[in-house]
Amino acid sequence: MLKSVNPSRTDAWKKLSEHFKSMEFVQMQHLFAENADRVNDFHVKWNSLLLDYSKNKVTAETMKLLLDLANEVDLKQSIEALFTGDKINVTEDRAVLHTVSRDFSQQPIFVDGEDVSKEVYKTREKIKLFSNDVISGRYLGATGKAITDVINIGIGGSDLGPKMVVEALDNYSNQLNVHFVSNIDDDYLFPLLAKLNAETTLVLVVSKTFTTQETIENAKHVKAWLDSNIIGSVEQHFVAVTSANQEAIAFGIKETNIFPMWDFIGGRFSLWSSVGISISLALGYDNYERLLKGAYQMDTHFRQSDFDQNIPVILALLSVWYNNFYQYETEAIVPYSSLLRSLPAHLQQMIMESNGKDKTREGQPVNYQTGTLIWGEVGATAQHAFFQLFHQGTKVVPIDFIGFIKPFHDKDKTNHDILMSNFFGQTEALLKGKRGRKRQEGELEMLRNFRDFEGNKPTNTFLFEQLTPETLGQIIAMYEHKTFVQGIIWNIFSFDQFGVEYGKVLAKNIQEEIKSKKVSEHDCSTSFLINYYLSN
Ligand code: F6P
Repeated sequence: MLKSVNPSRTDAWKKLSEHFKSMEFVQMQHLFAENADRVNDFHVKWNSLLLDYSKNKVTAETMKLLLDLANEVDLKQSIEALFTGDKINVTEDRAVLHTVSRDFSQQPIFVDGEDVSKEVYKTREKIKLFSNDVISGRYLGATGKAITDVINIGIGGSDLGPKMVVEALDNYSNQLNVHFVSNIDDDYLFPLLAKLNAETTLVLVVSKTFTTQETIENAKHVKAWLDSNIIGSVEQHFVAVTSANQEAIAFGIKETNIFPMWDFIGGRFSLWSSVGISISLALGYDNYERLLKGAYQMDTHFRQSDFDQNIPVILALLSVWYNNFYQYETEAIVPYSSLLRSLPAHLQQMIMESNGKDKTREGQPVNYQTGTLIWGEVGATAQHAFFQLFHQGTKVVPIDFIGFIKPFHDKDKTNHDILMSNFFGQTEALLKGKRGRKRQEGELEMLRNFRDFEGNKPTNTFLFEQLTPETLGQIIAMYEHKTFVQGIIWNIFSFDQFGVEYGKVLAKNIQEEIKSKKVSEHDCSTSFLINYYLSN
């Protein structure tokens, strides 16, 4: 069970508040000038990753106090509770075991007296056999043709994670084309269907609850499309990933084509479970397993490393330092690889749905800030979009720079070297700023003010050897654990999502009103808008 400790009442927090007074206006440039070896004190080398966090507004004292905070809220014991299947998702009375779905230790994990790891291994085997069959052409469509295209219908965690991974590992993909349909948007779905051949298309309906309206409505459309092309083909062309078997069977999906989802894996952490079947189909099972193994390596690092060398713990503490003391509200994630273009969107859901909470673990309002706003875009593209605000705006945004030493296509590294020069150059510029530029002839003195900027903007630099299935698994698991640590420190429950669920209920009610054209009592703005929609 997780302890409930108000972080703002801990000794460490009080000391951090005192310490902040001496840190608030410290310039990182001075910290670097005082200690030419600063990078040695603030970096971690682990596996194929080098994390340099020296360009942050911290001293050895800051890190010590932050580590004290982690200890005071009993982080070690909380990590054990996570890995050993305690029901730490208290509000939903569930264990939180996405780590089991990428576990390779063969150790049993008990939930309510049952070893859930057995079911996990069995399901992995089923994913392996099924994806091998589809890829090799042993599994055929209803008219005897091999599958060429897969549509993954799902939303939120049933879409963002797998979609991001399939894009990111495009260089590893086989001949199957995987398409992702999440939004309820005919303007997207129908043009996609028009391009596909029903005879060679496999449809995955991915929904833990099998009630999410966007997913089920899209699935109905695709079912009708299939039926209109090949009568009676649904059984052979549909697969479900769900914990609601009966609903999937009622939809027309045969039992052997249903892959399980379990209570103990939350949607936003589910790409490691059967939800990842689209990944296995796109990349082949072996690459899918390499992804899981990368995550498993990060799990082991997180569970076993001392906190001062523990990457997710360090990242979480830095983030708490900025969020709760400097009051910086957002964090940006900028991967220098176009293949990772959907990483910010996946992390947005994972982090903001987890830690967007305003009640303590005792159900009381928190008296401090919790979840940060997450956003980002691929570098160098982002440099030409929003980096100007990072350099000279009035808001400070701590940024994660994620880069790779080797590109996948490495015959000529010229472009990669240019990309990485930008990567290094930006963190340097953000640190140092620019001052004392010489006045050009005839230039007004005042113009110098516009061209000078102070720097002192915090960044973390992640340098991986190469974007492989293993490193991608490590990156995702690293952010998952960072998020977990933050939730522990903020004394919130990170694994429910009642806010989004309420939105789903309201949408359903309004849908009925639109259907019947009878608008019931809302606030005047909402009634006005629905009536306007109906009258046009
Ligand atoms: O967005 C809310 C949410 O409940 C997410 O947590 C989840 O990933 C998504 O909806 C989809 O839910 P389901 O897999 O049940 O369709």
